[in-house]
Amino acid sequence: MIETSSPRRDWQMVDEGWGRKAVDFATLSEPANCREYVTIQHRLEVTEGDRLIDVACGCGLAIELARAQGASCAGIDAAARLVAVARDRNPDSDIRVGDMHELPWPDASFEVATSFRGIWGTTPTALAELHRVLVPGGRLGLTVWGHIKVSPGAWALAPFKLASTAKVANQAAMVALGRPGAGEELLAQYGFVDVTRIAVPFAWEFADPETFARALASTGPAYEAIQNVGEDAFLAAAAEGAREVVRDGLPLRARIDVVGYLARKPGSASAPALGRSAAASPSGSASGESR
Ligand SMILES: C[S@@+](CC[C@H](N)C(=O)[O-])C[C@H]1O[C@@H](n2cnc3c(N)ncnc32)[C@H](O)[C@@H]1O
Repeated sequence: MIETSSPRRDWQMVDEGWGRKAVDFATLSEPANCREYVTIQHRLEVTEGDRLIDVACGCGLAIELARAQGASCAGIDAAARLVAVARDRNPDSDIRVGDMHELPWPDASFEVATSFRGIWGTTPTALAELHRVLVPGGRLGLTVWGHIKVSPGAWALAPFKLASTAKVANQAAMVALGRPGAGEELLAQYGFVDVTRIAVPFAWEFADPETFARALASTGPAYEAIQNVGEDAFLAAAAEGAREVVRDGLPLRARIDVVGYLARKPGSASAPALGRSAAASPSGSASGESR
């Protein structure tokens, strides 16, 4: 069993980092994640009548897309200021501030559960809660960072290393779930079946290095770096790194390896099996090369 680092104790601090630039996150960072949202929702066959929960829902863009496909949605995030945006986008959805380790919904409330880079190697017990709130046969879709070092867009995450040594070590432990076999093993431990690993298309795009730096600064890991080196130094370092990959007439583009896991809670299937194949073979690798 992968060890946890007492995330329960810390969840009320999450808004300090993730919430401080909620509007920047909602408008400059989160929209680029739509590629993974669409991919996972398509593979889970989200449809009319599904009750769907998105855990660590951020500013609720994934919920907005699931609603567009007919699902009735709930969401939870620890950052109150991100939840404020998510509610503004999804006024009829049940979106709460809270801890993914204690979901405030009864057993068997949802046909579909998703979490986009919200469940980590350091937070595996949240899977027990997802299992609990899914109906028998319910479908699960998760994404986690894959092999970042070999990703063409690794430059975009490099400024996070400006955090303290301890924080950088924790960031590395968080992304462990993308390693070959790690997610499969963990999902099986928490009672999920039909676990499938898929490659998920993921690319951040930005207009220019300064916009990239501002977008990156709105994230939680950036806040850890900012606490260590200060905001000006963080912004300057991020923009400088991005200047090296500017392409004439094209957006800055950071393609990053992201791994998706599809799985099911055992029981009578509430919907078609997890079978819809990808519309197109996504670029990038979720094969989980050794690292
Ligand atoms: C990498 S972000 C992903 C956000 C969103 N899913 C997206 O696609 O942009 C991680 C999210 O986890 C949330 N989070 C961190 N710890 C949490 C906890 N214990 N319970 C609920 N949400 C948490 C953060 O506030 C943040 O929104």
